[in-house]
Amino acid sequence: MQVGKQNVHFKSSEEISEVDDVDFIITSPPYWNLKDYQHDDQIGHDESYNKYISRLSSVWEECYKCSNEDAIMVINVGSRRSNKKFYPIAMDIYKNMDDWKLIDNLVWYKPNSLPQPAYYNDKLFDDKYEDLLIFSKNYDYNHTFNKIRIKQKYKDKETREHKMNDSGRGIGNVIKMRSYRPPTIKNQNYHTAAYPEELVYALMHTFSNENDTVLDPFVGSGTTLKVASKMNRFGIGYEINKEYKELIKDRINEDMRDFTWRELDILSEGYDSTDSNDSINGSIFDF
Ligand SMILES: C[S@@+](CC[C@H](N)C(=O)[O-])C[C@H]1O[C@@H](n2cnc3c(N)ncnc32)[C@H](O)[C@@H]1O
Repeated sequence: MQVGKQNVHFKSSEEISEVDDVDFIITSPPYWNLKDYQHDDQIGHDESYNKYISRLSSVWEECYKCSNEDAIMVINVGSRRSNKKFYPIAMDIYKNMDDWKLIDNLVWYKPNSLPQPAYYNDKLFDDKYEDLLIFSKNYDYNHTFNKIRIKQKYKDKETREHKMNDSGRGIGNVIKMRSYRPPTIKNQNYHTAAYPEELVYALMHTFSNENDTVLDPFVGSGTTLKVASKMNRFGIGYEINKEYKELIKDRINEDMRDFTWRELDILSEGYDSTDSNDSINGSIFDF
């Protein structure tokens, strides 16, 4: 299915032959044993944990083959508990990675995530974050990196030359963004496991440029492709469930709300975008 610069293949991403020279990959893989995406070839449903991790590995390998030498791959994934056992999925993805090199690990902090279920609640911390694993093909550091900066509040007081930057300070490796939660997500008719478009926007801004080719091997409702379309990137997606076709098309054509980099900043606690006329098009704001 082609929608403007966005192209979706309704098949398993365990075999990718329709694209090459990809610049940037961003995705959130299916959970393990949590959701049924209604397809015999889906990854993560009714299969062992080891099988799940190994099938994901084959998708990362396909992504490796179809991308260029300076490509970056971002995998967003949370940990999982099942029958009281803890599954650190991000760590296991890393341990089973063949060719990609891990160059960074960001935290997506979710201030609104739900408390643990009652039988864990008394003994465990509430789960407030997901990982964003950043992989490269080499350690050359030739990849695109458009650092997100916001204005420094105490810049005038800074005396250390090496800490000063007229463009502001970086937002750091913890990104704050509310996760979609029922019933909002249902009202919006989004996919139940959609990731926030602001998060995707921030990473796509950082690691790619206009007219680059962006790939998502697990499209779901199409968040990545919607953002790619708004940011003038060529998007390629793989999704096993054909029933998401109309949803993906609608989402690509949907408008994106204005937001500010400051909303993503862990130190700007309590900041409410509705109080401000700041727009996403400017990147430096008062802290
Ligand atoms: C966590 S969801 C992705 C959500 C997406 N990031 C969004 O914002 O809507 C994972 C998706 O992977 C799809 N999927 C599962 N196995 C697949 C496979 N082998 N190939 C391609 N897609 C698959 C599922 O149908 C589901 O839509």
